[in-house]
Amino acid sequence: MSAAPGAPAGGPVDLRSDTVTRPTAGMRRAMAEAEVGDDVYGEDPTVNALEEEVAGLLGHEAGLFCPSGSMTNMLGVRTLVGPGQELLCDSLAHVVRAELGGHAALAGVTTRTWAAPAGLLDAEVPLAMAVPRAGPYLVSTTAIAVENTHNFGGGTVQPIAELQALRVATAAAGIAVHLDGARLWNAHVATGIPLDEYGALADTVSVCLSKGLGAPVGSVVVGDAERIAAARVWRKRYGAGMRQVGVLAAAGSYALAHHLAGLAGDHARAKRLAEAVAGADERWCDPAAVETNIVALEVPPGAPAAPQLAAEASAAGVLVSVLGPRRMRLVTHLDVDDAGVDRACEVLAGLVAGAR
Ligand SMILES: Cc1ncc(COP(=O)(O)O)c(C=O)c1O
Repeated sequence: MSAAPGAPAGGPVDLRSDTVTRPTAGMRRAMAEAEVGDDVYGEDPTVNALEEEVAGLLGHEAGLFCPSGSMTNMLGVRTLVGPGQELLCDSLAHVVRAELGGHAALAGVTTRTWAAPAGLLDAEVPLAMAVPRAGPYLVSTTAIAVENTHNFGGGTVQPIAELQALRVATAAAGIAVHLDGARLWNAHVATGIPLDEYGALADTVSVCLSKGLGAPVGSVVVGDAERIAAARVWRKRYGAGMRQVGVLAAAGSYALAHHLAGLAGDHARAKRLAEAVAGADERWCDPAAVETNIVALEVPPGAPAAPQLAAEASAAGVLVSVLGPRRMRLVTHLDVDDAGVDRACEVLAGLVAGAR
């Protein structure tokens, strides 16, 4: 069976992101046939079922379906952190780098960051920075955000022992934890650790259906019933009260039922890409560090800058992301099959060898 069911035939191999997938024929059918109602009235049965399903998978009381992971992160965090209070996160975290300041602009949240190579969590670092209930002198830390897997870190899976240590110490200190689990599915498939074991280590968890799972849109934030009720109010206030949106939630439910196990194949294909690149020049990446579906590439000194290499790859039919002058990213997903990876390996290994 082809692993690229939604990709247009004959197109480039698109490794820019796992968000570029097209809904499969089966997913489109599920969307077309979804039972719907007005979700602002709480009457869309397909949305309600998805929210319940995701909350159940993560071991939380309630869930809220939203258009994006940025929104579920913002809603989760704002139920934990008040205006003028502090969220700690690592300096590569999506919440602080790629949500366009939304936490500050819309919720008055202040952030302080720590440096984490590859985004890897060492619980002692944020715990040493945290200042809960700081009185009138310092900003009070009310939550810590963790990203699993870590996007800009290169698909890093957070060690469960560090997440557990963070949970125990923050609970004792009265500090909440938000988990940006946009790709928690990948961590779950890579480690075999149950989703509810990860879920138990945070007060709010945001997960995306529109990344590796292949839905066209949609994220869910889970937490206790009170927090999710508050998040529902804020979602409407942000203008994202949606109506017969079961047509989108159906894609998410379909993705969970049909595409979760397939993430293991994405991980294997990412490893193959890393091995091909490192085989041409080992300075670019360490295949052993590739745990999930993301490969971070560092362009070594002497090679042309990342934008030029990306343009050359594109001309040869392989699309990659440029994350900095000397940093590139490859992401495998539902619309890249083994044949696509073979092609990408050949093109990228040739480019890397030529750039030595
Ligand atoms: C780790 C992480 N969190 C959150 C998001 C935000 O998701 P969205 O693009 O749906 O807003 C992304 C998007 O790529 C992500 O990688």
